Amino acid sequence: MNLILFGAPGAGKGTQSELLIKRKDMFQISTGDLFRAAIKGQTDLGKKAQAYMDKGQLVPDSIVIGMVEEVLNKGAKNFILDGFPRTVAQAQALDELLNKMHLSIGKAIFLEVPTEILMDRLTGRRVCKNCGAVYHIVSKPTKTEGVCDNCNGEVIQRNDDKAEVIGTRLKAYEEFTSPLKDFYKKAGKFTAVDGNRETENVYNEIEKIIS
Ligand code: AP5
Repeated sequence: MNLILFGAPGAGKGTQSELLIKRKDMFQISTGDLFRAAIKGQTDLGKKAQAYMDKGQLVPDSIVIGMVEEVLNKGAKNFILDGFPRTVAQAQALDELLNKMHLSIGKAIFLEVPTEILMDRLTGRRVCKNCGAVYHIVSKPTKTEGVCDNCNGEVIQRNDDKAEVIGTRLKAYEEFTSPLKDFYKKAGKFTAVDGNRETENVYNEIEKIIS
């Protein structure tokens, strides 16, 4: 099944995607990760995206949609869209694209987490610069401070996880991404999952929904 995982910044989309990849042989398309890779590679796309990401703003739809189309055209099945679509225009473009490819979305799973918990998750999140593994200084610390358990890479704080940027990201989510709940309710694909529980409990519920 092809899935959309959506929710506010810090809702746990990346964490749940990681488990689905490992346990369900699924393939993740994370627009945030694609942009971060482009920034690391200093490509034109990366330079354009960085200006928006560092401020906590959404990257313009035209840039995001073109990038996702390129990835899907490489051949996709059993994919998880993590962080895309993020606006109604992106959701409409995705529908058109999938129609052309004779593909569809099975479920749009919304991870629901209260704002005060999101702040704590985002300010405490740390990520591996090398392999992208995600940690949290309290709930999922690395064994050695600043060193990735998986690859010994350097573990850092994302630029957009600084307190002053998080507010802008949460506002962008409320204004542009929250309306997707209605979009997918109308399409009969919406399912909400309480994301404010132990990671494994959240995963178990998602697993039930997709099986
Ligand atoms: P992106 O990278 O997609 O960021 P995001 O949506 O803000 O989501 P996050 O990665 O912050 O959070 P998450 O939900 O994946 O949470 P995670 O699992 O890491 O996008 C970054 C930027 O790129 C955007 O701001 C925008 O500029 C641009 N962009 C990307 N896509 C775009 C698009 N489609 N259109 C326009 N612009 C776009 O978890 C967070 C923390 O919580 C971790 O520390 C984790 O360990 C912890 N945690 C997770 N689950 C639990 C749990 N159940 N209990 C306790 N702790 C938990």
